[in-house]
Amino acid sequence: MISLKGVTKSYGGFKAVDAVDLEVSDGSVFGIIGKSGAGKSTLLRLMSLLERPDSGEIHYGSERLDTLNERDLLFWRRKMGTIFQNFNLLSSRNVRDNVAYPLEIAGWSKHDITARVAALLELVGIADKSAERLRTLSGGQKQRVAIARALAAHPKVLFCDEATSALDPQTTHSILKLIQELHERLRITVIVVTHQMDVLRTLCHEVAVISGGRIVEQGGVKTLFSSSASIVVKELLALHEARDE
Ligand SMILES: Nc1ncnc2c1ncn2[C@@H]1O[C@H](COP(=O)(O)OP(=O)(O)OP(=O)(O)O)[C@@H](O)[C@H]1O
Ligand SMILES: [Mg+2]
Repeated sequence: MISLKGVTKSYGGFKAVDAVDLEVSDGSVFGIIGKSGAGKSTLLRLMSLLERPDSGEIHYGSERLDTLNERDLLFWRRKMGTIFQNFNLLSSRNVRDNVAYPLEIAGWSKHDITARVAALLELVGIADKSAERLRTLSGGQKQRVAIARALAAHPKVLFCDEATSALDPQTTHSILKLIQELHERLRITVIVVTHQMDVLRTLCHEVAVISGGRIVEQGGVKTLFSSSASIVVKELLALHEARDE
């Protein structure tokens, strides 16, 4: 269980994340949805301890993480992988060397890295691209490289920040399917930040809606789409439908 208690983060007096309480069960696919600027990415950076909260607590199981020193935090960060909208890959490295990167940093042997990278590229369906330069890849293929890299060191949690927002609908579908398969196969917890309702509908079990840095609604995906949905959800749905027309 990942749990947040009263987590707050301000930038220059502006509360980007405001007193957030959240519980994510191990092995679930948890969605965080909200409009641009709502605080989604900030919340994700806090949950993955890339940033520390100003106040509040972040627990992974029985361990409190936000008060750990950098060295102890490193142990936990290795249990987490993150993928982003813009992939964040190293353009100077080819596909396999991008996936190898976190393992090099973690001090794996060359032999182990080679075997692990080959297995990962197989897992995400781009084994044939191993020696390719990144510029020759499509967006969907780049996101597959990023997923392989995020999963390299056997994380327990995969964070996805708008991972499909830069992709066309067909590629989005294939990446969502891949994340779903990986979730089932590896039994990892997946935390998905998105402004796309389709992503929630396809992937998530449970959802939190964030607005102005606060969680305004939380529950099962079905409840969220019901007629009792909050104004924020209805606005997001309306935006979504308007875009589809
Ligand atoms: N490092 C930072 N320094 C200053 N302000 C920041 C920083 N990070 C986020 N903010 C501010 O906090 C608010 C929330 O930002 P955040 O990136 O978390 O939103 P978001 O929901 O991810 O938006 P988007 O959908 O556009 O990605 C915004 O007003 C943003 O300008
Ligand atoms: Mg964001």
